[in-house]
Amino acid sequence: KTVAIIFGGCSNEYGVSLISAASVIEHIDKDKYNLVLIGITEEGKWLRYSGSIEAIREDRWHMHPSCIPSFVSPSRETGGLIELVHTEYHRVPIDVVFPVLHGRNGEDGTIQGLLELAGIPYVGCDMLSSAICMDKDIAHTLVRAAGIDTPRAMTIHQGDDVEKAIVAAKDFGYPVYIKPAKSGSSIGITKAHTYQQFIEGIELAFAHDNKIVIEENIEGFEVGCAVLGNSSPRIGVIDEIELSDDFFHFTEKYSLHTSTIHLPARIDTDTEKKVRETASLIYQTLGCSGFARVDMFLSGDGRLMFNEVNTIPGFTSSSRYPNMLRASGISYTQLLDELIELALG
Ligand code: DAL
Ligand code: MG
Repeated sequence: KTVAIIFGGCSNEYGVSLISAASVIEHIDKDKYNLVLIGITEEGKWLRYSGSIEAIREDRWHMHPSCIPSFVSPSRETGGLIELVHTEYHRVPIDVVFPVLHGRNGEDGTIQGLLELAGIPYVGCDMLSSAICMDKDIAHTLVRAAGIDTPRAMTIHQGDDVEKAIVAAKDFGYPVYIKPAKSGSSIGITKAHTYQQFIEGIELAFAHDNKIVIEENIEGFEVGCAVLGNSSPRIGVIDEIELSDDFFHFTEKYSLHTSTIHLPARIDTDTEKKVRETASLIYQTLGCSGFARVDMFLSGDGRLMFNEVNTIPGFTSSSRYPNMLRASGISYTQLLDELIELALG
């Protein structure tokens, strides 16, 4: 089978995607699969690439002489991956796509919709589920409707009266979170301890999205579930993030200077059961398939609350998602195999 791996993307998580994709390319079983690599530059140019993995990791890939302008044609007739060599279009046969893209324009249903039009199977959640999970406001609304606890939150749109957000923050009590509705890796998120930080946080969040969420802070810790499968998915060993810094921001996520990830999480068996059941319910409620990392909070007073679903979670060889599955006996290479099998259905 030929697997096309798409990486990069017009997203503020472009750099994270490069690292995830480099790991996927490194670990995928090359005796079993032919690989076609497609990079999307930050400006949105699609290039077929056949250089080294190192150049992807170091963001030099797009300067490589092997790059050929390419795109996915949505037409079923000419559908598939097309590359432009000199002035001629060539069809590149592929069986399945693995979009290793994080955030906007990749994890949010856009690529998934294009692949659905083209009739190409792909790894991970479908268009609707990807779009829902990307939007924290919509995901929270649906999860709450399914009877799952969520932190108190309020949504504001660009142009709304900020006064109502100020009132909400007062009501929730500081510190309070300000988040772009659609973002990843904590980019654009502020944990505000003061009114001044709150106002600055609103401005920052609106620089990333025209819809933002004001969310109460939950005293407690975060747990994650690596979910794998379609109708009866499996869940890996649950992990726990212990913070020593203020919150799990971008730098901490990718350097872990002051935070510790406990695998397994330090929770009792009853709590573990509840975490697993709730993760399955969230996965099902949001229409997920293939894989996703479901993040939840466990509050100091024992409440379990939804945080978010990452439909294309960080996928470096030391990322939480593959680590949680590795701890339950599924190696990184086996995991890639299973994801491709699930996509081919
Ligand atoms: N958005 C990053 C990649 C994650 O959730 O793992
Ligand atoms: Mg995320």
